[in-house]
Amino acid sequence: MNNASRILTILGSSLALSFSASALAQSPIVVKFSHVVADATPKGQGAIKFKELAEKYLPGKVQVQVFPNSQLFGDAKEMEAVLLGDVQFIAPSLSKFDRYTKKVQLFDLPFLFDDMAAVDRFQQSAEGKGLLDSMTNRGLKGLAYWHNGLKQLSTNKDKLTRPEDVKGLKFRIQASDVLEAQFRQLDANPQKLAFSEVYQALQTGVVDGQENTWSNIYSQKFHEVQKTIANTNHGVIDYMVVTNAKWWEGLQPDVRSGLEKAMAEATAHANNLAAELNERDRKRIIEANKAKVQTLTKEDVAAWRKAMEPVWKKFESDIGPELIQSALKSNQ
Ligand code: LMR
Repeated sequence: MNNASRILTILGSSLALSFSASALAQSPIVVKFSHVVADATPKGQGAIKFKELAEKYLPGKVQVQVFPNSQLFGDAKEMEAVLLGDVQFIAPSLSKFDRYTKKVQLFDLPFLFDDMAAVDRFQQSAEGKGLLDSMTNRGLKGLAYWHNGLKQLSTNKDKLTRPEDVKGLKFRIQASDVLEAQFRQLDANPQKLAFSEVYQALQTGVVDGQENTWSNIYSQKFHEVQKTIANTNHGVIDYMVVTNAKWWEGLQPDVRSGLEKAMAEATAHANNLAAELNERDRKRIIEANKAKVQTLTKEDVAAWRKAMEPVWKKFESDIGPELIQSALKSNQ
């Protein structure tokens, strides 16, 4: 090679290098948001809003891809996927964190909160916000709470008004030891199953019943494979949006604050919508007339509360009595 062609080669490769460096600088960060529910639910809507806002505040810098319905990862895999960096955001139900912290189990205590306003007050309190950071030592950073709503109980039986009606029945539960204890307390048989498997388990009779919000029941068509849904409101299904703590800390400050802003607004959007979507889907379930919606009296609800109450004592020391007290204060 003569000198001239050597110079040309060097120039060429440094041009190629600088070109690929600038292409890298310009290519947006791809942020994957994986979840297990339908788009037409509070969480589904929150994720869509987050994408819209993040891409608006960080044009060309961030691209958000939303994967609903366990398309990318189901329950068991999504936490690992965040830790491995395969996805950046997930929003599991608060019942699914007990492998990472015992404290978040608080939310599964039956009849802990009087209503969703109380859940919201607790989540916005110092103690509630503190739980967002309770898993950073395990690599998970909590960014926000998203609401779904209160849980209803359903079975493939005609009668569902009192605790004795579920004796001996098999129930699908989320991966939570508190929920397992709750059904054992009712002399029922709980079975931990991923959300994506529930419909088929109900349809084939692998389980007799389940507990969930109106929006999850409707969007998954559980009402088509159940006979009765009782409005027990015995617990809550809400979410924590979590990300990989290391990835989050490693972001450029402007990107992180843009994502934070998008998250705060998407949170407000999802939380404002949650009650409305659940009420809409409660009505749709009644109109569909497949499962009977059983209204409970005050006395019925009191009987469920009494039957489930012993669960509290079992988990009090794991969760921490002070945390339980502060959650109870939000009922006032
Ligand atoms: C369930 O597994 O029943 C729900 O927590 C699913 C969800 O994310 O709402």
